[in-house]
Amino acid sequence: MSDELKKLAAKAAMQEVRSGMRIGLGTGSTAKHFVDFLGAEVANGFECICVPTSEVTAAQARSLNIPLTTLDEIDTLDVTVDGADEIDGNRYLIKGGGGALLREKIVAAASKKMIVIADTSKMVDSLGAFPLPIEVNKFGLGATTNLVKKIMATFGAQGGLVLRKRMGGETFVTDGGHFIMDASFGRISDAKALSNALLDVPGVVQHGLFLDICSAAYLASPDGVVAIGDTV
Ligand code: A5P
Repeated sequence: MSDELKKLAAKAAMQEVRSGMRIGLGTGSTAKHFVDFLGAEVANGFECICVPTSEVTAAQARSLNIPLTTLDEIDTLDVTVDGADEIDGNRYLIKGGGGALLREKIVAAASKKMIVIADTSKMVDSLGAFPLPIEVNKFGLGATTNLVKKIMATFGAQGGLVLRKRMGGETFVTDGGHFIMDASFGRISDAKALSNALLDVPGVVQHGLFLDICSAAYLASPDGVVAIGDTV
């Protein structure tokens, strides 16, 4: 997706925020634009208090003087704006391509509204072409891998399971100190059942299926931005 489309979607989502709001800040290249737009508004006197979904977003927000807090200080947010790796017609999502899915889901679940910003190439008929990120505890990695592989077989996964690595070859570690496995399903036919099955695995901390969480989405294409769901 071109950076211009990411920017268009992010700009469109600015209509969801009002001065005085408590805002969740997503992670990734599209959310980064939203944080930039918000920072420009803050410089003009816009008031907000924000919770970032990753250390990277926190650093960006600080550099823009966006006031930050935590979900220890406040327990609900008005809105969270974040990117997605896939979005289907039910506004079910796959997230976690950037590795921030745990904090993203905690922050989204604490928000009255979760708004997705993306380009229309992220829209899919059924989820699963994008490998599903699964955040796992470092302890018992072999046992967790076996259990997740069994679930993948039960759900007819067409591809394999890989432990995420960084460019340099070292294992990717999340902000929470966990590993991520990427599970290639090809097509996920029953996302709710899969979600429950994965959460039943003791070593699974969280997964990137966001079901019944996304309120609305701003999806940018070269023809403009399409809004779906419960927008303002
Ligand atoms: C981060 O963990 C992810 O959930 C991102 O929100 C998602 O991968 C979308 O990222 P981009 O906006 O960079 O495509």
